[in-house]
Amino acid sequence: MKTNRENLPLDQILLEDSLQLLSNLPDECVDLIVSSPPYNLGKEYESRQALEIYLAEQTAVLLECSRILKNTGSLFWQVGAFSDRGMLIPLG
Ligand SMILES: C[S@@+](CC[C@H](N)C(=O)[O-])C[C@H]1O[C@@H](n2cnc3c(N)ncnc32)[C@H](O)[C@@H]1O
Repeated sequence: MKTNRENLPLDQILLEDSLQLLSNLPDECVDLIVSSPPYNLGKEYESRQALEIYLAEQTAVLLECSRILKNTGSLFWQVGAFSDRGMLIPLG
């Protein structure tokens, strides 16, 4: 069911796939987004992906974040750098 402005989830912790959760929220309904997504470093909660795939997934999430963010809102996206064979590529 699509969430509308009258039934926005407030003061709750929602355990859901981020893209699924965001896609159910209406446009421009959020003041602040703080995102700490997987860093693609091969940590225990993630499988390491090619940079292009990781960026495509993050782009999809960030597009949804941008859609639900109010014009006056702020977004903090906390990521690391992509490392491969001694090379570091900053992502932020
Ligand atoms: C870099 S950690 C963030 C840790 C968090 N800042 C904290 O202090 O606990 C990334 C987190 O994203 C979660 N995660 C991975 N894929 C996700 C997804 N599709 N939707 C929601 N969370 C996801 C992981 O389980 C992991 O806990």
